[in-house]
Amino acid sequence: MWSKKWISALQILFVLVFFHCQASAHYHWVVKEATYTRLCSTKKILTVDGKFPGPILRAYKGDTIYVNVHNGGRYNITIHVHGAIFVYPKSGTSYPFPKPHHEVPIILAEWWKKDVMEVLEEFVRTGGAPNVSDAYTINGQPGDLYPCSKSETFKLSVSQNKTYLLRIVNAVMNEILFFAVANHKLTVVATDASYTKPIETDYITISPGQSMDALLVTNQQPGRYYMAARAYSTNAQIGFDNTTTTAIVEYNTGGTTSSPLFPYLPSYNDTNAAFNFFGSLKSLAFGSTEGVPKKITTRIVSTQFQSTHSLAQKIKHVKDPMGHD
Ligand SMILES: *[C@@H]1O[C@H](CO)[C@@H](O)[C@H](O)[C@H]1NC(C)=O
Ligand SMILES: *[C@@H]1O[C@H](CO)[C@@H](O)[C@H](O)[C@H]1NC(C)=O
Ligand SMILES: *[C@@H]1O[C@H](CO)[C@@H](O)[C@H](O)[C@H]1NC(C)=O
Ligand SMILES: *[C@@H]1O[C@H](CO)[C@@H](O)[C@H](O)[C@H]1NC(C)=O
Ligand SMILES: *[C@@H]1O[C@H](CO)[C@@H](O)[C@H](O)[C@H]1NC(C)=O
Repeated sequence: MWSKKWISALQILFVLVFFHCQASAHYHWVVKEATYTRLCSTKKILTVDGKFPGPILRAYKGDTIYVNVHNGGRYNITIHVHGAIFVYPKSGTSYPFPKPHHEVPIILAEWWKKDVMEVLEEFVRTGGAPNVSDAYTINGQPGDLYPCSKSETFKLSVSQNKTYLLRIVNAVMNEILFFAVANHKLTVVATDASYTKPIETDYITISPGQSMDALLVTNQQPGRYYMAARAYSTNAQIGFDNTTTTAIVEYNTGGTTSSPLFPYLPSYNDTNAAFNFFGSLKSLAFGSTEGVPKKITTRIVSTQFQSTHSLAQKIKHVKDPMGHD
């Protein structure tokens, strides 16, 4: 009797714990200013909980995430959470690829030495393009190719012969980025919370707001290897930040005094490289039409237009990309 009671109590407890883990994830965020120094200049930036980059949301597939945000900053804001949500398989299920030994967020972002509100206000006032950033960052650090950033380089210490799941997020404002790790292939397994057919590649191309999960196997000689990112941009008239951010993968089994190898990254204007990569991405369900709507009821045409001149300059004639006035 006694033991039976305990068993059912344990069962209830188990169901509660299970229910709690599976059903919802709760977060409380405080938006506030914090002081950071990058590229030898110091300023206050708006952060979540004082962190740069911000925190990561973690949940199991099917969960509901509740985020309670307290705005302690100076401005009225909206928050977009792009990509920094790690979704784990439901309990009892697994990834459609070998379980990685470790998981590492790789947040690609950018840094302006100026207050970003000044950049925004000037951009809105002139109607041109916003001033380009002074650096890109990997997990908040520009990396040692930038002036006075030797110590501001993200380092990932790895063990040999392990599989790392890189959760890569492009959190820059406007640029598509190329990203690669020297001597290591990446196997892309998911993008924007959908599994893909695994593709092995030397580099990835990732759009602003996009997230991409890639497996990295540490099967190289112990040593140091750069991971690096830079922009893909074809319109030379619209300026872009053409700098390169780096981080270092360091094997903890030695070779850490050697200078890191640099990866192959396609050049800024390599459209073939960008589109060969995007074109190779296929849904895990590719080839099956299950779940794909087949009846089109409404067609939507969308166009985008960007001026390369400041509105202060006289624009004589403007056509949209469809050739309309
Ligand atoms: C923020 O929004 C509130 C409510 O609309 C408004 O009263 C306040 O002036 C705004 N503050 C700023 C800094 O824009
Ligand atoms: C933007 O860039 C222009 C040209 O380099 C410079 O004069 C201006 O001060 C910059 N504005 C901001 C807000 O950084
Ligand atoms: C990793 O694998 C290689 C090749 O199989 C082997 O030579 C090496 O000793 C392994 N390293 C570790 C730390 O297990
Ligand atoms: C990057 O852009 C700057 C300013 O437009 C230019 O002077 C420089 O040559 C460019 N660097 C590279 C590597 O393209
Ligand atoms: C990319 O730019 C270089 C010079 O910066 C030029 O020589 C090359 O033709 C360009 N490639 C393409 C595909 O536009």
